[in-house]
Amino acid sequence: MRHEDLIKQMTAKQKVAFLTGKNEWESREYPQFGIPGLFFSDGPSGVRRQEGAGDHLGLNPSVPATCFPSPSTLANSWEEQLEEKVGEALGREAVLQNIHVLLAPGLNIKRNPLCGRNFEYFSEDPYLSGKMAAAAIRGIQKNGVGACAKHFAVNSQEERRMALNAKLDEKTLRELYLTGFEIAVEEGHPQAVMSAYNEINGIYANENEFLLTQILRKEWGFDGFVVTDWGGGNDFTEGVKSGSTLQMPGCGLDSARELLQALEDGKITEEQIDERVDELLDAALTIPKKVAEKRQQLENPVKVYSENHKIAEEAAEKSAVLLKNEDAILPLKQDRKIAIIGDFAFEPRYQGAGSSCVRAIRVETIVDLADKMGLPIVGAARGYQRNGKEDKKREKEALELAEQADIVLYFLGLAESLETEGKDRKDINIAQNQIQLLHELARKNPNIVAVLSTGSVVNTWWKGDCKAILLDGLAGEAGAGAVWKLLTGECNPSGKLTETWLRSYEDTPSYPDYPAKERDLVYKEGIFVGYRYFDKNHIPVSYPFGYGLSYTTFAYRDLRTDENGIRLYVKNTGPREGSEIVQMYISLPESRIVRPEKELKGFYKVHLLPGEEKEVAIPFDDKTFRFFCERCGKWKTEKGTYQILVGASSQDIRLKSSVFVEGTQTETEESEDLRQDKQNSLKKEDKKGNSAKRILLNRNDPLSSMIYARNPVARLIAHGMKRKIDRAEKEGQPVDLNTLFRYNMPFRAIAKMTEGMVSMKMVDSMLKMINGHFCSGLCSLVKEFFRNQKANKAYEKELKQNI
Ligand code: BGC
Repeated sequence: MRHEDLIKQMTAKQKVAFLTGKNEWESREYPQFGIPGLFFSDGPSGVRRQEGAGDHLGLNPSVPATCFPSPSTLANSWEEQLEEKVGEALGREAVLQNIHVLLAPGLNIKRNPLCGRNFEYFSEDPYLSGKMAAAAIRGIQKNGVGACAKHFAVNSQEERRMALNAKLDEKTLRELYLTGFEIAVEEGHPQAVMSAYNEINGIYANENEFLLTQILRKEWGFDGFVVTDWGGGNDFTEGVKSGSTLQMPGCGLDSARELLQALEDGKITEEQIDERVDELLDAALTIPKKVAEKRQQLENPVKVYSENHKIAEEAAEKSAVLLKNEDAILPLKQDRKIAIIGDFAFEPRYQGAGSSCVRAIRVETIVDLADKMGLPIVGAARGYQRNGKEDKKREKEALELAEQADIVLYFLGLAESLETEGKDRKDINIAQNQIQLLHELARKNPNIVAVLSTGSVVNTWWKGDCKAILLDGLAGEAGAGAVWKLLTGECNPSGKLTETWLRSYEDTPSYPDYPAKERDLVYKEGIFVGYRYFDKNHIPVSYPFGYGLSYTTFAYRDLRTDENGIRLYVKNTGPREGSEIVQMYISLPESRIVRPEKELKGFYKVHLLPGEEKEVAIPFDDKTFRFFCERCGKWKTEKGTYQILVGASSQDIRLKSSVFVEGTQTETEESEDLRQDKQNSLKKEDKKGNSAKRILLNRNDPLSSMIYARNPVARLIAHGMKRKIDRAEKEGQPVDLNTLFRYNMPFRAIAKMTEGMVSMKMVDSMLKMINGHFCSGLCSLVKEFFRNQKANKAYEKELKQNI
């Protein structure tokens, strides 16, 4: 233990209280021991420090900060140095705002394109996710601020996110859902990891000893602290025992009393509690000090914000993906008359909603910057309403404008309400009114350049109407400046997709069961997510993983492979300078186990002047050839001749070679694994249908399940909430995130998220009322309310008096 002496001075009451937060954003401090509190704030697109009433859904305003491109967009740069630079910029702002732990990055695997939070994550691929996350962590922590990798683990659905059980086999868990975290921990060394809301195979992530202690700490060597997702605590004692350090936000001292009781009853030992206290102490005694020192060194904040705006712009430039460019319509020629059409050109869609939502300092717009571009611009029109409603007047204006121009720049994308925490999308379509207008515009003017603002995959069946498509993603506050530079050729697009853009949502492997409406979410597709699935099943896609065009061209030659990695030459064969992302996939055609056709195991972004050629080296590492053997619970390597596929995308393989790898198993072991692998693929299970019966609800049921409650008032409340959500959706309005959160949250979260106002016993009393024992429930609710208030006050007093 690192702080044994200090821990010895603390009373048991002080120790257990230390492991639950003080309020929405702070951990407890003990000035009598010189222990400061830690201040937490969201990331990952910017710093979201809340001054007034705190909430974890991005509802109440926060201190202005730079808004960087969303992680989904930044990942398209495939540039670890850039990710690190953005992380560093984020860290600097965190220091300025006196934040100790930034709740970023998020690196869950994009299992299904509908997940409302895909814009906050990097990729469908664990290797790429891990590399980008590690870079972000390194950057943030350069400033002394702690980074917090989240949400650990298997968090891929927003609906019912606190009342979901992800069911998957260990091979899938390890190879797909944990590998990114493993890389992030080993290469980024985050000070904190946030446990996910969900259960994994029946055990809450926050109480999962296998995950938090065995894998995270013992196997990967994590030596920081684990914090719950906000309100994600369930059984506090189980959490602490299993490796969860801090329960956030503050929920009074009910949980602390529960843990004290468990200690008394012998359900947990003082040593186990001390271990957690030590982890948190280490952060509390080091981070605030480092942040304070860094703060002294930081020059004028205005300078920091203005530099960070430039970094946000650079990030947006390097992350845009050119999806199509027929007749080399881009970059724009100086003499072509241009019409700007689309609501997003006036009010950009530059970030997602929820806890990552930043109060941006300086949001640029396409229309505001247009005058400075020196282009013959004939005008600008909004064209459509972003809420999907028909607007004939706007359409007419846009169509007339299109006729006067040589080229139409058409700005389209997803509305704010569609990419948000707490809610999944219903489909992958762009609103019909935007597509209808595109179609009509294309009839008036065939030269349409579409600029697409979305943080998640959309289908592009309309692409035939466009000569060019530039995906600017959710580009942050400086996105408009970046888009202009890319359109005019001042910058050459160099981003590539980090997820597969599928033709139709029905092609998604998890399509039949997503989102799960009841507790179990079965990962039936196993490791076959994203390109791993489309490749294996030969399903055509719109744009493959790793795809992206440039204004120049690149030639690959002379691939050499040895036991350490590969080397090859890449040449810029076109007229402009540009960057190419070289991707290395491995494949084992004669594999005897369940394995994807190919897997990304390395990449490198190389910048080249016209005509320039450089040698690119991509090393192999401990993850290149491994697979997880369920039978023996270990990583192993299959013996064989592996193919090394080097390409410009997962489907544009330019060079191939092979390497023989000795492997770590015998023939018998291999056959055993094969048998095991087959047995383990999860059987299709019927989804539990909604039962019309009245049921007894418990602490872990979501409030939405009150529609089955015995108490008619409870049923009425649940139906009322549902109606409110449905109405907002129908009218294209952003859904009130608070209602949505409450609708999906389990009853226990009422105690975990009310800063001590409600205790777990009060929750049980409420459940009694809901379950048909209204009067006795109400009586005990009132009694427990007063008991809890009194106990909280007495405990606070004792904490100060070192009792
Ligand atoms: C989100 C986390 C976030 C936390 C605090 C939760 O709702 O899932 O990602 O860090 O709130 O705002």
